[in-house]
Amino acid sequence: MANVTVIGAQWGDEGKGKVVDWLASRADLVVRFQGGHNAGHTLVVGNQTYKLSLLPSGLVRGKMGIIGNGVVIDPEALLAEIDRVISQGLKVSPETLRIAENAILILPLHGAIDRAREAARGDAKIGTTGRGIGPAYEDKVARRAIRVCDLAEPETLSFKLDELLLHHNTLLKGLGAPTFEKQALFDQLLAYAPRILPFVEPVWERLDEARRSGKRVLFEGAQAVMLDVDHGTYPFVTSSNTVAANASIGSGMAPSALGFVLGIAKAYCTRVGSGPFPSELHDDIGRLLGERGREFGTVTGRPRRCGWFDAAMVRQAIKVGGIQGIVMTKIDVLDGLPELKVCVGYRINGQEYNYLPAAMRAQAAAEPIYETIAGWSASTKGARSYAELPAEAVKYIRRVEELIEAPVTLLSTGPERDDTIMMRDPFEG
Ligand code: IMP
Repeated sequence: MANVTVIGAQWGDEGKGKVVDWLASRADLVVRFQGGHNAGHTLVVGNQTYKLSLLPSGLVRGKMGIIGNGVVIDPEALLAEIDRVISQGLKVSPETLRIAENAILILPLHGAIDRAREAARGDAKIGTTGRGIGPAYEDKVARRAIRVCDLAEPETLSFKLDELLLHHNTLLKGLGAPTFEKQALFDQLLAYAPRILPFVEPVWERLDEARRSGKRVLFEGAQAVMLDVDHGTYPFVTSSNTVAANASIGSGMAPSALGFVLGIAKAYCTRVGSGPFPSELHDDIGRLLGERGREFGTVTGRPRRCGWFDAAMVRQAIKVGGIQGIVMTKIDVLDGLPELKVCVGYRINGQEYNYLPAAMRAQAAAEPIYETIAGWSASTKGARSYAELPAEAVKYIRRVEELIEAPVTLLSTGPERDDTIMMRDPFEG
């Protein structure tokens, strides 16, 4: 069996949706293993644009999608997304979608806490998506979360809601935010149950069966390594582990089943929300990258911060994330720039580093050390082979490979599925 795990190698929004969609054509199952509806995947298929947040991208290819136990699920958001994609012509039924019985639910109070805390942080805010992701994961490790399987047990729901409300209403009162009533939440959850429970099962069993029968599994990561709660730019991170290792924990499949790990990285760099971004550009080039790359958040619509490719950071993401090959996306956005810069390390308080140290003040003080590389004037857009690329673009990719110490396995040259150059088939291992 040759499986593939796809994760982001920067701060998210690298174009994972397109790559997963492309790979899904050769997979049997597509599995989400972390994150929630903070993720936003845009898939362009012909004249249809699908915006997915919770549903595995493989659904667009008619492949079985699995929402693993590591995902936090807002039932209202899930049902709205299912209705939206069905109205666009996709088939979503228990034949095409399965949800882990032990996945965690996001309730409206999680979003309320998320937003109230961000407001209280003022200038020190993390810039979360406000969707309740962090508070839901907090409840999981605090052992008071409501899980998908609880929808089938009204007594368990009632008991858990008492504990949840005791905790969260105390917090909400302290933050000066409106509190929640038990009965309304209870009724709401019971109303979701008949629509959600038909999708629910122990997905680990299906995945084990897939492993034994040699089916191909594609693990679809959300967010990215630099937003990982352990390895990212903490505390400006999301609340789950985004590294490849979590595909195992977040699905119930063995670590040995992850297969080839692909990291997705843009040919430049973007970030939404607050936090360190050493190679960020505040000039016309930064604005140009944002305009050409249409850098607005899929989920929140916020403009993304833009900057040069940070090879030191991607190299670090490759090492901690377990990445074996990179998919470089959006190289066409760099077309026509006479000269390009790549960050190869940092200067922090007079000292040079070839990685981003963990301490918050050190990260905030990191100044990029740049290498300058010649740009190209011809277009790379839609190229389908290396031979169609300008020589300087190939040189840029080769230099990036040296700096990040990993191969560029795939190159994405446009939003269409077929605007992709494959150097090596990740399913071949
Ligand atoms: P949260 O995941 O909503 O708690 O947000 C925490 C941080 O992760 C914020 O900086 C968000 O902007 C960022 N973030 C969360 N999801 C995504 C994503 O899908 N793409 C890019 N950034 C994200």
